[in-house]
Amino acid sequence: MSAEPSLPVPSPAPRFGVWLIGARGSVATTAIVGCAAVAAGLHPPTGMVTETAPFTSCGLPSLSSLVFGGHDTVDCPLPKRAEHLADGGVLPHGLPSAVHAELVAADREIRPGGPPPGDTGRTQDQWIDVFAADIRDFVRRQDLAGAVVINVASTEPAPTDGSLPPSSLYAAAALRAGCPYVNFTPSTGLHHPALAPLAASSGLPYAGRDGKTGQTLLRSVLGPMFLQRALAVRAWSGTNLLGGGDGAALADPAAAAAKNAGKERVLADTLGTTPEGEVHIDDVPALGDWKTAWDHIAFDGFLGARMILQTTWQGCDSSLAAPLVLDLARLTVRARQKGLTGPLSELGFYFKDPVGDGPSSLAEQYTDLRHFAERLRPAATDPKAHR
Ligand SMILES: NC(=O)c1ccc[n+]([C@@H]2O[C@H](COP(=O)([O-])OP(=O)(O)OC[C@H]3O[C@@H](n4cnc5c(N)ncnc54)[C@H](O)[C@@H]3O)[C@@H](O)[C@H]2O)c1
Repeated sequence: MSAEPSLPVPSPAPRFGVWLIGARGSVATTAIVGCAAVAAGLHPPTGMVTETAPFTSCGLPSLSSLVFGGHDTVDCPLPKRAEHLADGGVLPHGLPSAVHAELVAADREIRPGGPPPGDTGRTQDQWIDVFAADIRDFVRRQDLAGAVVINVASTEPAPTDGSLPPSSLYAAAALRAGCPYVNFTPSTGLHHPALAPLAASSGLPYAGRDGKTGQTLLRSVLGPMFLQRALAVRAWSGTNLLGGGDGAALADPAAAAAKNAGKERVLADTLGTTPEGEVHIDDVPALGDWKTAWDHIAFDGFLGARMILQTTWQGCDSSLAAPLVLDLARLTVRARQKGLTGPLSELGFYFKDPVGDGPSSLAEQYTDLRHFAERLRPAATDPKAHR
């Protein structure tokens, strides 16, 4: 009796970790729910740039290959968090129960964050070790081909002494665990001078800061328009009304100052001057996750004619942010696979205050992103190419 020739056992498709700092927050929960919903074909990928034509052959990891985990300081289970978001109209009713299994799986991978305010139990280096061990453990247990760490935790004030704020402890832990790092918030993260040597020597790619989802997105389009049409902007003032956890965190003037610096940088960079005017953020809890951003732009035309442009942006914050978080996870995982290191300035399209020396106008940033996508394409013989 002749033995049957044994068929080669196909190796399982690689999976990649997305470790979210602030994993139980609105943006994180919406990203986890959205990834599962789009991967299952329950919703189209509206708002995901990486699902558009220029990105289809870049070897980006598929949405179904992403595995979520993270740190948070609160313990409300993700399925419950998702139900709250559905009650508030951020997620469609019924969607949290349709992706319940994925939410439970991600919830099992969330570890306690820190440090608690005033903590003296561990040194900063010990906290970095604890966080890095959590991330490494996740990668090993889930048998992941790699992971990216993305900060979507509450905005913290800029540090006033030399110590590392929590966002910087997590950023250092990401690099210590061998993972690329993305800062979707205005918090310090890798921008701390004490972390510069680690960022430079890690051989890992990183990106940030602060996702560009509303008012600043508009500013990065309108600023270049005024400059290119030779119209003189005299004053640019803005007000934001928002609720939710982000609104509460930004009610702290020090946290709001960190946010507003990024918004104002876009104007200085695109107009070449800093016009008069300020940005204000008001916490309006009744608005929940909905944000109204109003800009008032006073400008001069030919022969000094005085004119005004006003814009009103009414957006759902987490639905604007979540697809960008998924884009950034896929692009950064792929950048790591391709051996890219250091600041990913070509991802400036996504940020208010981008790392590196890229342009500030959205149109130029999109061109850079398209070039970046070209660099991610699998070489003809690239064994890591998959989709
Ligand atoms: N359009 C947008 O929504 C948008 C755009 C740009 C940036 N962001 C930033 O994204 C972040 C998240 O926004 P959100 O609306 O999800 O806020 P949120 O308040 O709903 O969530 C923040 C989460 O971070 C957690 N957290 C706080 N401190 C922590 C710590 N030390 N360690 C671990 N977790 C911690 C909180 O418990 C909470 O679950 C904010 O910093 C916000 O400024 C949001």
